[in-house]
Amino acid sequence: MMAQNIYDDEEFFGGYSQLLRSKNGLDGSPEWPALQEMVGNVSALRVLDLGSGYGWFCRWAAAAGAQSVLGIDVSSKMIAQAEDWGRDPAIEYQLGDLDTVELKESAYDLVFSSLAFHYLTNLDGLFTKAYNSLSPTGRFVFSVEHPIYTAPVQASPGFQTDVDAPERKSWPLNSYANEGLRIRNWLKDGVRKQHRKIDTYVSSLLGAGFTLTGLIEWMPTLKHVEDHPEWKDELERPMFLLFAAEKK
Ligand SMILES: C[S@@+](CC[C@H](N)C(=O)[O-])C[C@H]1O[C@@H](n2cnc3c(N)ncnc32)[C@H](O)[C@@H]1O
Repeated sequence: MMAQNIYDDEEFFGGYSQLLRSKNGLDGSPEWPALQEMVGNVSALRVLDLGSGYGWFCRWAAAAGAQSVLGIDVSSKMIAQAEDWGRDPAIEYQLGDLDTVELKESAYDLVFSSLAFHYLTNLDGLFTKAYNSLSPTGRFVFSVEHPIYTAPVQASPGFQTDVDAPERKSWPLNSYANEGLRIRNWLKDGVRKQHRKIDTYVSSLLGAGFTLTGLIEWMPTLKHVEDHPEWKDELERPMFLLFAAEKK
């Protein structure tokens, strides 16, 4: 099945461009410091960024000394914006659908992805391709929306307040075991995402041959919330899930 490619939709693209993480890039992405620690040193590495979007990570990796960076994304609008924001001889962008893309074998030292895999239907296939695309000591680091966040079947899940204790907020977790399509009204009605359980992500990684080396359910610390009161609700349930894995 063809990918939805919602980022090429005018209305969605316009809304997405207004998000803090779109305007401020990695500095506007609260989970970036944790992800960056998992990524580690990229100096002289051949890097592949799957679902590269505006290219924030591609530019960071090139500036941090990566030998080459290939960003693949299904949205030509996202790639056009990424190219507008700075061409670098070390960076190349390629239009491609991660559900069907072919990746070069043994061509990269680091495969990275930020918040793209929960759009994909064929994750097992992609993980096997990512594994084969890595050098023998290659690493795989990625983030997805946390399964507690993706699970609810409501089109616009939101926190609910307790009648007896209005200060207490609860996330409407339901249908956790029912993996698969979730239709969300987010920036535009009808956005197609895929819900998977944590053990499904882990099994897919292990099944592809990876060794899991790190797993973080990203949530802010109290100090984060002091500096960024807008993240307070994120203390109630994790929104991002971060993975690090190795080929060897
Ligand atoms: C939430 S954005 C994240 C962008 C970037 N990785 C970042 O963190 O700033 C998700 C990106 O995944 C891309 N994407 C979604 N489905 C895809 C698919 N099937 N193949 C390739 N890219 C896809 C979108 O076009 C979009 O650029």
